[in-house]
Amino acid sequence: MSALLRECLRTPTLYEETAQLFWCDPDVSPQLLAAHLDADNPMASRPPHFIEASADWIASVAPMGRYPRICDLGCGPGLYAERMARRGYRVTGVDISPMAIEYARASAARNGLAIDYAVCDYVDLRAEHSADMAILAYCDYGALPEKSRGKLMRNVKGLLRPGGIFVLDVFSARHYENARELRSWDVASSGGLWTAEPHVCLHERKKYRNHVLLDRYIVQTSSRVKAYNIWTTCFGPESLAREAANAGFTVIDITVSIAGDAFDPAGDTICVVLRGNEQ
Ligand SMILES: C[S@@+](CC[C@H](N)C(=O)[O-])C[C@H]1O[C@@H](n2cnc3c(N)ncnc32)[C@H](O)[C@@H]1O
Repeated sequence: MSALLRECLRTPTLYEETAQLFWCDPDVSPQLLAAHLDADNPMASRPPHFIEASADWIASVAPMGRYPRICDLGCGPGLYAERMARRGYRVTGVDISPMAIEYARASAARNGLAIDYAVCDYVDLRAEHSADMAILAYCDYGALPEKSRGKLMRNVKGLLRPGGIFVLDVFSARHYENARELRSWDVASSGGLWTAEPHVCLHERKKYRNHVLLDRYIVQTSSRVKAYNIWTTCFGPESLAREAANAGFTVIDITVSIAGDAFDPAGDTICVVLRGNEQ
């Protein structure tokens, strides 16, 4: 049986990981970095005007005078980190992608910003990245399996000072309800997101139980087949608050987006501001 057919016939088990996290895959990383930096490409980052509004809102939620140290989880090339540094915060940015961090470091140096960057899996954060506030922007939390989400929440709680703030956004239960299962294919004759080589990409979206979506991409080049599973767990306010409470956080505000727009039960995303309970 061909490798392509084998991949097409498989139904991944819940949260099954593919061989390599696509953010760090050398075939994908250069295109992802370009997508981060392309204002018109929403694949990796939101548009600059949204991030600007988001940085303003985060600064209003956790003012610099009381929350001077911020840890940006999954900082990518530093789009939030630089904006927060310009607003006077002392910023640490962590990301699992060496290519994103290399770019972020060079960009901070170019712009004269003293940002501390580290290549690190945010699920395994250690207290050395201590902070008054942490952010996890662009719905990354829901990409993790349940166990890793619990570990991430507990580790963030551990690195924040008592009463520290954690701001994160997720896709909403409404996003799950609106999602349709689909199968499609695309030919990238001169390369595309998944590799710079010519390839065919098969995309399948499947709905799993408990508000979990899978986007599975199977990429065939002239010499190999690679599959990438991207999981999205969607949340309602209650299910997100429950996971936060398990780690010792209380929800102090809920909005529809990480730019602070008023909560909308029909919205595609939910953002919560969590405060760490003081023991
Ligand atoms: C959707 S992008 C969002 C980037 C940034 N927060 C923004 O909004 O512009 C997700 C980022 O998280 C990083 N990432 C994914 N999984 C990670 C992990 N387990 N630990 C650290 N970073 C991770 C990726 O490399 C990527 O830069």
